[in-house]
Amino acid sequence: MVARVDEIGPGERKLVEVGGRSIGVFNVAGEYYAVRNRCPHQGGPLCEGRQFAPLTAPAPGEYDRGPDGVIIRCPWHGWEFDVRTGRSWVDPEKTRVKAYPVAVRELAQEVPPGAAEIEADLDAETYPARRRGAYVVVEVGR
Ligand code: FES
Repeated sequence: MVARVDEIGPGERKLVEVGGRSIGVFNVAGEYYAVRNRCPHQGGPLCEGRQFAPLTAPAPGEYDRGPDGVIIRCPWHGWEFDVRTGRSWVDPEKTRVKAYPVAVRELAQEVPPGAAEIEADLDAETYPARRRGAYVVVEVGR
């Protein structure tokens, strides 16, 4: 679990540490994606770069514009990657950054025991409580 869904709005990103790895989590038009924050070129902080819409040219004089924020450009030397797949925009078969599965899950958490103890010190009545909400979950494996 890396964030509540409302922490990463459409067009936004959040850098997180998971299992000792720096990972960028992106919200592109309401869908969440995660890629490693380490550029395969020379290790630059890829996920700190600017995001763009992909442009393709199906025929001379024609172009298609994809969704905003799909392409991330490394701030060091400008290599570009698709945050949905981790593949390089220029060389998608050979060059890629690690992409991780992302899920949104509804979770209910018990309030930590320490919180109840604080209220007891104040001589207040306490009740069991739960915190509910949707969370972004990144699966990094081992
Ligand atoms: S380190 Fe990312 S483009 Fe060079």
